Amino acid sequence: MDSWKSVLLSGFAVLEVASALNDGVGLKPHMGWSSWNVAQCNSASAKYALETADKFISLGLKDLGYEYINIDDCWSTKSRDGSGKLVPDPQKWPNGIKAVTDQIHAKGLKFGLYGCAGDKTCAGYPGSEGREKSDVAQLVSWGVDLWKYDNCYTPCQQNPRPQTCQNPVGNTKQFYAPMRDALMAASSQRKIHFNLCNWGRDSVWTWGATYGHSWRMSVDNWGDWASVERIGSAAADIYNYSAPGGFNDLDMLYLGSSKINANQEKLHFALWAITKSPLVLGLDLNKISSHTLGIIRNKGLIDINQDSLGKAATIFRPPGAAAPVKGKIYPYWAGPLSDGVVIGLVAGTAAGNYKVDFKDVPGLKGQTTTYAWKEMYTGQSGTGTGVAFDIGLHDMRVVKVTTTTGV
Ligand code: GAL
Repeated sequence: MDSWKSVLLSGFAVLEVASALNDGVGLKPHMGWSSWNVAQCNSASAKYALETADKFISLGLKDLGYEYINIDDCWSTKSRDGSGKLVPDPQKWPNGIKAVTDQIHAKGLKFGLYGCAGDKTCAGYPGSEGREKSDVAQLVSWGVDLWKYDNCYTPCQQNPRPQTCQNPVGNTKQFYAPMRDALMAASSQRKIHFNLCNWGRDSVWTWGATYGHSWRMSVDNWGDWASVERIGSAAADIYNYSAPGGFNDLDMLYLGSSKINANQEKLHFALWAITKSPLVLGLDLNKISSHTLGIIRNKGLIDINQDSLGKAATIFRPPGAAAPVKGKIYPYWAGPLSDGVVIGLVAGTAAGNYKVDFKDVPGLKGQTTTYAWKEMYTGQSGTGTGVAFDIGLHDMRVVKVTTTTGV
């Protein structure tokens, strides 16, 4: 490691997590869109996929790095065909899946699809249990780039298996291994990003990197402030498990939800960005507001999320600050970047003036030094030994401090 980088990282408890898959996929948190929040089953169609691909281009999202068009649950028919193959619903995919992936690839974008480790998906469509190799062969033949893999109707002590099992037979790992192995066996033909969706069960962050390229670390983001708080606060404890090749997935960005306000939207996006979550838009791009569009096109935040170091920010406690409260989003966050340090200041529980001295920030600790800084929502920048912002309730500021000392 470069000496300046090791100095930079010295303030953080760095755990190098080996990426066992090590296939060059998922070196940065993936960026894209998912059909699920838009209209659940009804949006799992070619029409939505292609319209969204066009929107990625017309709204400038592709140029900012948004890449994956992910179709979630309900894209297939309710049963397999006579030879056990998955069948795209002809109503939703009149020309099949391949025709759509070809068009999406021609636009320079990628295509994701959804399956399940159990015998049915959460919405009751065919799951892949026991059919992994054959299903992967289909994904390869269609040109699929990402496979989200859910945890419904998996082996359970209850009979018949419920949709969401509370007392599973064994560890989720066992349900995900056959699909991982099938994908790895096919990787010389096609590299497919494997997105584990076991809702954070069995501390998936401790083993996710050996099974997939990203893993959901919680139950769903329901599009309300309570979800942002629950998921965002939990990300602090597990930051160390994210690294190039395997990232904690905080779930889709539920921006534009009627259940969160303008400040909460900003906080939601910024916190997902600095914790290196995949940035997967869960909203209808035909109905996006200019406020939301401004947030998702914030290049400074995107660059921080996509930084090549791939290290997630976590909380730190400056002198005199109150202790973190479980389930609440702590005001002070920081994480290393390849060319500096990112600081998050979060008004998670109260509006106020939030300030921080750079000498108290992990990665910048030590003597009083003058640094250059820039804030990503207001565009303010300066040089100095610290920053202070008035922040409204549930809003957030993200400051990038460059390691250029002595300015
Ligand atoms: C849930 C999953 C959601 C969505 C839904 C589809 O289990 O967490 O993200 O995929 O299933 O039915």
